[in-house]
Amino acid sequence: MKVLDNPNTITENLIANSAISHGMRVLDFGCGNGETSKLLAKAVGESGEVVGVDINENAVIQAREKLTLEGYKNCRFIHTDISDRLEKLDYFDAVFGRRVLMYVPDQNKVLSTLSSLLKAGGVICLQESDSTIVPASTDLLPLHDKVNGWVWETVKAEGGNVNTGFMLPSILSNCGFKVESIKAEAIIQGQNLHYPMSTVVRAILPRIVEKGIATESEIDIENLDDRLKNERDKNQVFISDLVFSVIAIKV
Ligand SMILES: C[S@@+](CC[C@H](N)C(=O)[O-])C[C@H]1O[C@@H](n2cnc3c(N)ncnc32)[C@H](O)[C@@H]1O
Repeated sequence: MKVLDNPNTITENLIANSAISHGMRVLDFGCGNGETSKLLAKAVGESGEVVGVDINENAVIQAREKLTLEGYKNCRFIHTDISDRLEKLDYFDAVFGRRVLMYVPDQNKVLSTLSSLLKAGGVICLQESDSTIVPASTDLLPLHDKVNGWVWETVKAEGGNVNTGFMLPSILSNCGFKVESIKAEAIIQGQNLHYPMSTVVRAILPRIVEKGIATESEIDIENLDDRLKNERDKNQVFISDLVFSVIAIKV
């Protein structure tokens, strides 16, 4: 079984398909621990700059430490709320956000702020997970459904809008962007592609428990991967997530 060991592939493809290139100045809003900033830093090269911003100070510290340790000199990280006025950040050639807009209460306001930071003709790239039509499977896979539900229910309990992917074109158009391309890619667990759902659950386990979505004994994290594999026949396909990737231009 092939494990999808690089969940960043979809993001790398989005960056490669966009106009983001050497020498550009890019804003990574809601950068988290800098995973996406690193991909952007590679794309803009040493002559470019990536500015990562996040409302979570610990995430900013982690991102700064990690990328400094790995030798990235073209990144800097700022602790700030993207809903605030951000004139101090100056203008950008591109703005990038992965799984952030879904957590923002006023998406129109944030997109307007981002637009004001973009140069005319600048590009905005957004990647958002969406649960509107997932989970999907032709077979009954109750454990898969349940585990997938833990993840989505936690995101919802934390205020996440789990239908943001479908809404991206209209939100972007409302804020004066022209959508250049949109696609949605399914995250599949199946015969040859085993997306590590248990790794996702492990990463957010304290949040699942804290929100009262499931107990630690119900999750049984050490055996979760085997339990999922045992439930799935080698020919079955289970779709747990739909990832929307959008490229739009400031007109
Ligand atoms: C699911 S994480 C994604 C992190 C990163 N973009 C990635 O894909 O690895 C969402 C991030 O958005 C940040 N965030 C949420 N609301 C924000 C806001 N109003 N301003 C800045 N960051 C925000 C959170 O702190 C968190 O780090």
